[in-house]
Amino acid sequence: MKTSRPKSPRNAQPRSLTRSQPRLTKKPDKTKLWGGRFQGQTETLVESFTASIGFDCRLYEYDIEGSLAHCKTLQRAKVLSARESHAIIKGLHQIREDIRVGRHAWKVEDEDVHMSIERRLTQLIGPLGGKLHTGRSRNDQITLDLRLYLRDALQHLQEDLRRLQQSLVTLAERHKGVMMPGYTHLQRAQPVLFSHHALAYVEMVERDKGRLRDALVRINVMPLGSGALAGTNYPIDRHYTATLLDFPQITQNSLDAVSDRDYVIEVLSGCAILMMHLSRLSEELILWSSQEFQFIDLPDGFCTGSSMMPQKKNPDIPELIRGKTGRVYGHLFGLLTTVKGLPLSYNRDLQEDKEPLFDTIDTVTTSVKIYAELLDQLTVRPEPMNKAVSEGFLLATELADYLVQKGVPFRESHHIVGNLVRECLAKGKDLLQLTEHELLRASPSFDKKAFRVLTPEAAISQKNIVGGTAGTQVTSQIKYWKKTLRPESKTPSKKKRTP
Ligand code: ARG
Repeated sequence: MKTSRPKSPRNAQPRSLTRSQPRLTKKPDKTKLWGGRFQGQTETLVESFTASIGFDCRLYEYDIEGSLAHCKTLQRAKVLSARESHAIIKGLHQIREDIRVGRHAWKVEDEDVHMSIERRLTQLIGPLGGKLHTGRSRNDQITLDLRLYLRDALQHLQEDLRRLQQSLVTLAERHKGVMMPGYTHLQRAQPVLFSHHALAYVEMVERDKGRLRDALVRINVMPLGSGALAGTNYPIDRHYTATLLDFPQITQNSLDAVSDRDYVIEVLSGCAILMMHLSRLSEELILWSSQEFQFIDLPDGFCTGSSMMPQKKNPDIPELIRGKTGRVYGHLFGLLTTVKGLPLSYNRDLQEDKEPLFDTIDTVTTSVKIYAELLDQLTVRPEPMNKAVSEGFLLATELADYLVQKGVPFRESHHIVGNLVRECLAKGKDLLQLTEHELLRASPSFDKKAFRVLTPEAAISQKNIVGGTAGTQVTSQIKYWKKTLRPESKTPSKKKRTP
C-alpha cells in the first residue's frame, strides 16, 4: 500500500460551505450534470439539503486518484483514445493543484465533490471532460473514495496509536518500582506496580490497532466497475484499476458493492471500542488527580481553572475525552440505524455515512494524539500511592496464602484471615501490628515468619508469573514493548513475549 499520500484534504472545506451557511445560488436545472430529465428548477432549500459538498470535499484527493485510475482503465479498454485520456489526466492534475492551493471554487449547486470536479474538468478541457464518467456512477465512485480515504486515515491512526503506546511504556519505565493499590470494585485489593497498570493500557491499545488492521482487509477491496448497481457495459479491466490503486482484491457483486457500508461501521465500531479504552483511562486520571487520591499531577498545559473558584485545576482533557466517547458511540449507532432498513442497492440515505465517519476519525485521532502528549508530561506521585498501599489490608490475601503453604485449605485460611481483619478493624490496627500471639490464636499454623510476607514489596515480587505484577515480569514486558513499538516494526514481535 502506498504510504505517501497527499496533504490532508481537511483544509479543503471552504468556510462558505459549512452546513450552517451554504453559499446558495439558484440556477436552472440545465446546469446540473444530471439535469437532462428535468424541467423544473431545484428548490433552493432542496439544493442545500441534498448537497454533500460541504463535507465530502475533503475526499477530493481520493476522488481524483480514483478518476485517474478510471481514465487509464477506459483508455486500456479503448473507450478513450490515448489523446483523450492524456487530456483528461492533465485536466485532473490541474484541478488537484488548484484545490490544493485553494483556487478551486466549491459550489453548493455542484452537489458533491464528484460533480464539482467533473464540472471543472469540462470547463478546462471541454466536452471531452464528460467522457470520464463513462462506465462509472457516483455510487461506485463514492464507495471507492471512502475506501481510499479510510486506508489513509487508518494508517495514520495506527501510527498515532503506536505513539500513544510508546508514551505509556515510557511512563511505565520512568516509574519502575513505584507501588500502588490495585483495585477491584474501586476498593483497594492488592498491591501492584504502577508500571503494570500503565502497561494494561498498552495491551488495550494493541487490540484496538488489531481491530482496525482487520477492518483494513475488508476496506481494501476495489469497487469501481460496479456502475450504479448492475455493473457496466464497457469491457474495462477491473483488476487493472485495482492494481493502479494498489487494491489486492476487487468486489464480486455490484449490488453489494454500491450498498455496502459494513467497512465504515466496522471502523466506527473499532473506534468506539478504542474511545471506551481512552474513556476508562480518563476516568482513572480524573480520580487519581483528585484531592482524594493525589496519585498524579496533570500537566498545567492540559488543565483549566475555574472562573469562580481560584484554587481549582480541572482535568478538562480527560473529561472531554470521556465525554467525546459518547459522541463516537452515537455515530456508530446512528449509522447502524441508517443502514438497517435499506433495500438493495444504493440509497441516498448512505450519504449520511460521511459526517459521522469524518467526525469519528477526527475525534479519535485528536484524542489519541493529545493523550500521548499528556502522558509524556504526567507527574506521578509515589508517596500517596505508597501510603495507600500500606493502609487498607491489601496484604490479607498474602497472609491467607501463607497458611496455604502450611497446608491449610485456602477456603479455611481465607476465613481465618477474614476474622483477623475484623479483629484489626475493631482494635484500630493493621495486620502488621498484630502480635505473634494474636496470629497463633487465629491459627496454630502461623509462625513469626508470617510477618515476612506482610510487605507490599514481597506481595508484588511473589506474583512472578507471566502476566503478573512482579518486577521481573513487568521489566520483561517493558522490554518487549520497547522492541515491538520501534517505528520500523510494523507488526507485533513474533518473539515470545515471556521470559
Ligand atoms: N453524495 C453521494 C453519497 O455520499 C454520492 C452518491 C450519489 N449518488 C446518487 N445517485 N445520488 O452517497
